Amino acid sequence: MSAHFDVIVIGAGPGGYIAAIRAAQLGFKVACIDAWHNASGGPAPGGTCTNVGCIPSKALLQSSEHFDNARHHFAEHGIDIKGLSLDLSKMIERKDTVVRQNNDGILYLLKKNKVDFFHGRASFSGADDSGYQLLVRSAKAADAAQALTAQHVVIATGSSARALAGAPFDEDMILSNDGALRLGAVPKKMGLIGSGVIGLEVGSVWRRLGSDVTILEGLPSFLGAVDEQIAKEAHRSFVKQGLKIELGVSVGEIASGKAGVRIGYTTAKGEARTLEVDKLIVSIGRVPNTEGLNTQAVGLALDERGAIVVDGDCRTNLPRVWAVGDVVRGPMLAHKAEEEGVAVAERIAGQHGHVNFNTIPWVIYTNPEIAWVGQTEQELKAQGRAYRSGSFPFLANGRARALGDTTGMVKMLADAATDEILGVHIVGPMASELIAECVVAMEFRASSEDIARICHAHPSLGEATKEAALAVDKRALNF
Ligand code: FAD
Ligand code: NAI
Repeated sequence: MSAHFDVIVIGAGPGGYIAAIRAAQLGFKVACIDAWHNASGGPAPGGTCTNVGCIPSKALLQSSEHFDNARHHFAEHGIDIKGLSLDLSKMIERKDTVVRQNNDGILYLLKKNKVDFFHGRASFSGADDSGYQLLVRSAKAADAAQALTAQHVVIATGSSARALAGAPFDEDMILSNDGALRLGAVPKKMGLIGSGVIGLEVGSVWRRLGSDVTILEGLPSFLGAVDEQIAKEAHRSFVKQGLKIELGVSVGEIASGKAGVRIGYTTAKGEARTLEVDKLIVSIGRVPNTEGLNTQAVGLALDERGAIVVDGDCRTNLPRVWAVGDVVRGPMLAHKAEEEGVAVAERIAGQHGHVNFNTIPWVIYTNPEIAWVGQTEQELKAQGRAYRSGSFPFLANGRARALGDTTGMVKMLADAATDEILGVHIVGPMASELIAECVVAMEFRASSEDIARICHAHPSLGEATKEAALAVDKRALNF
């Protein structure tokens, strides 16, 4: 007899475990199935985000920033450190501890909310009047597959790194985000393909720890999705820090051996070049995880990328089968996956779950940080929308000067007629935290004048947001 649930969630990444918890809060009998395992074979819920994504990358970004500051910036504060050295294995160990704490935290939360957790890989085996049938296979081959049935299924199986044709990941010389976050030594020369979010964040980690980092990017423009002015400012900073970024290249043959990796490429000007590195990270986007789900057994529709086809409410082509997060359309972000997970659980309960795709913030955790919400100036121009723009540099912000970090600016775009905020773009210190106020403002359809008239603590970086809002009306007070 198979165990029956109201809701089965496949995947315990941010989309899946949050959907499971919300469904349980709403009174459903819920199971959550996840295949990720730790080094000793035990369950490691949290998905890409917790195990090889958001959390470990931010742990290493923090550690490497401390190291970089100690090496290059403490002296200007009057702090001299003699004999500074790096203990990489300790740094990686700390990162692993942070990951483990998050895995344990999620197991605790599932238990607390009475979600039944199954450790193994799920696949569809059929459907009938009683619901959908699933099989769960544990990593141990000897264990028989467990049969489960459910009224509703939420698929949250996430995504995996996309490999370059002819250069499969071996996680030793050619690394995905997984191998890139657990190297045993700092490579002298590190190559990255793709100057997107992972390229910049992970490239920054290894540069700060001492690698000579070169990033090869296929597109002629840098961070094309980012507001051009902000991207330009960020590019200037990264190059000044020593990141070598080559735009508009065409990557050719990649040869990997014990001694290193050789990458043949053609520059934007058409010159043939070779880059020789000790390790190569390939960060050229991600592909949805649908292999192994046996979608054919139930006729689940996939698009040409292998992503599950869903409508705006995360409904698939099958009744009572939903999909959220990286495995469907939209930005591949943990918080987007979470919001979809909550909304789906609420829709299952007959409520009106809602995700506002216009106010999903983006953050790139480099130094300077880059964060934005809403539309870029180039998008508004392309739409022919009349807008006003105000920006304020951190150079003129007291807190930024006290921190010793005055790179960048806050830039606000507002409708020319109604003054509604259409987008906010930040490059600079703590942009990841500053953007939250702007998301709230946009969610409440605030005008730039609303922000300009709100009292912000002094001295704080948030004053730069207020000043950018004032600048929309050409009345910044401190610049
Ligand atoms: P995932 O987190 O990928 O989880 C899916 C889970 O499903 C996995 O545990 C997988 O093992 C499991 N699974 C798959 N198939 C099956 C199956 N058949 N049976 C059982 N289980 C299965 N996003 C941010 O918002 N902020 C960041 O700072 C950030 N940093 C990142 C850094 C890196 C290096 C990377 C790679 C990604 C980062 N992301 C970040 C993106 C973020 O990790 C993803 O958007 C997010 O994890 C997607 O959540 P998800 O629940 O859809 O899928
Ligand atoms: P990405 O889409 O951010 O960047 C990929 C880059 O590779 C692009 O600039 C693209 O033009 C380039 N590219 C693609 N094919 C290429 C080729 N053949 N040769 C050279 N360049 C090529 O993807 P990335 O960095 O792999 O990250 C995947 C996703 O993970 C991100 O889009 C984001 O959704 C998520 N993520 C989010 C983070 C955050 O929120 N801070 C951090 C890291 C990842």
